[in-house]
Amino acid sequence: FATGALAGLSVLITAGPTREPLDPVRYLTNRSSGKMGYALARAAREAGARVTLVSGPTAIAPPPGVECVHVETAQQMHEAVMSRVAQAQVFVATAAVADYRPASIADQKIKKDAARRSLELERNPDILAAVAALPQRPLVVGFAAETQDLERNARAKLMKKGLDLIAANDVSGGRGFDADDNALTLLWPGGGTTLPLQSKEQLARQLVAVIADRMGEANSR
Ligand code: PMT
Repeated sequence: FATGALAGLSVLITAGPTREPLDPVRYLTNRSSGKMGYALARAAREAGARVTLVSGPTAIAPPPGVECVHVETAQQMHEAVMSRVAQAQVFVATAAVADYRPASIADQKIKKDAARRSLELERNPDILAAVAALPQRPLVVGFAAETQDLERNARAKLMKKGLDLIAANDVSGGRGFDADDNALTLLWPGGGTTLPLQSKEQLARQLVAVIADRMGEANSR
């Protein structure tokens, strides 16, 4: 990991979960803590990049020197990313964005009356796919949280969304989400490498080194 490997570049990173409100006091969310995305923001900053972190609700402080934009919902995260992505040379989607949101948000707290209730959900925008589809786009790095067929599912996401790099994260058996350690399988068109289990800080530095390599590769074409 060379200090300065991303010098002069702007890196936009999403991190953490999103919160999708049901009523004024309840929401749907997931187990993402933001640790992986915040570690990446720190590592990219250490590598000399200007870093903007678009973060869902987390309990951690943004790393020094990193601009942090706080959002709650997937729609807010989508807006925050799309209004900033033109300035970025690298986009990394670490966030665990809710794929669906409640189709309507109750104005008042939902009452405990019926014995059974069902919830209608509506698709959220896919932020990663939206960035990858831009005509003028940064280097696009996605994550893939999988509980089965890690490499096959991740390679399918890489190709389907037309990404430059995907970090496949085995999240079965309580791994990945909220843990301090993680392991990643990195895949790109025509190649890949495995980063073994280690702290999210160390892992983030290694991922940043691979991103810098992929940038070099893209620029030499
Ligand atoms: O936050 P931590 O506790 O440290 O946990 C880290 C992590 C496990 C959340 C992280 O390493 C990880 O795997 N992030 C991706 C989680 C995820 O939602 O994966 P996915 O396979 O559902 O989504 C694929 C990719 O599309 C991801 O890059 C995701 O950010 C992006 N996406 C998904 C849905 C959506 N609506 N918009 C998106 O941008």
